[in-house]
Amino acid sequence: MRKRITKAIFPVAGLGTRFLPATKSIPKEILSLVDRPLIQYAIDEAREAGIKEFIFVTSRGKGALEDYFDSAPQLEQLLRKKNKKDLLETLKRSTMDSGEIVYIRQREALGLGHAVWCARRLIANEPFAVILPDDVIAAEKPCLKQMVEAYENTGGCMVAAMEVPPSKTSAYGILDVKEDMGSLVKVGGMVEKPNQEDAPSNLAAIGRYILTPNVLKNVGTLKKGAGGEIQLTDAIAMEIENGGGVFGFRFDGQRYDCGSKAGFLQATIAFALSRPELRDELMDFMVETVASRRAAQ
Ligand code: UTP
Repeated sequence: MRKRITKAIFPVAGLGTRFLPATKSIPKEILSLVDRPLIQYAIDEAREAGIKEFIFVTSRGKGALEDYFDSAPQLEQLLRKKNKKDLLETLKRSTMDSGEIVYIRQREALGLGHAVWCARRLIANEPFAVILPDDVIAAEKPCLKQMVEAYENTGGCMVAAMEVPPSKTSAYGILDVKEDMGSLVKVGGMVEKPNQEDAPSNLAAIGRYILTPNVLKNVGTLKKGAGGEIQLTDAIAMEIENGGGVFGFRFDGQRYDCGSKAGFLQATIAFALSRPELRDELMDFMVETVASRRAAQ
């Protein structure tokens, strides 16, 4: 039996510059798709995959995140008085039990690899998951759960993977495919943000990982990589060089890049359209708006 994955790291210490000025005072992870903050999607996915310990790597200005997970006694009292059971249940889902969530600080935004490394003492010697809340994945079975199940057979490290247009490889960590087994891919190397000409494939790693503690040790030896940042991709690539198994996992589901404005808007529309109480009104609005835009062109 493999050691179960019960710990997940949520690196949320980035500056979120693509959403300025909104992110001047609000953490990006609190921005909401319809009415649920990005971080809530990530927490729900982790829970469904069996995660019990939630480790947040935060930074200055992310206090609203800590408040979000706290209980809200006044609000709860009011909702109880008004017998608003549904809303009480919604609130309950956003409250974390004492001790199941830990916050550590990344003092300087030195990169994703460095952010994950900040949690090394809490991970100690077990495999763990990493979830980037910017990547929201709509799926029948949550993406991390799919990965945990696949990991039962593979062990080693696993990264969620998806094909991207060749012109977009410079925005991702790209996998060098050694053996393609369909939903699973044996990875022979990884490169962070290669140009289209240098990319070993167009299979990109996106924000879900299962990693061994070796990867954290590797981060500790890394120099700055692409973009002048300490890259998680480089630490995983080092794991392959050291003979560790790394697998890409083509998940079932639709991934939205909510770290970009276009992706965030697409996710907002998709999630709103999946809500019966919003669907018809939104569809009518979109049809009319598109028609009048077209007519004006
Ligand atoms: P991004 O590359 O999206 O950077 O980070 P960002 O700062 O969040 O956003 P922009 O590009 O300025 O708009 C990907 C993930 O890695 C985390 C981010 O919080 C995000 O979840 N991260 C990145 C850290 O925790 N620390 C870092 O030093 C860098």
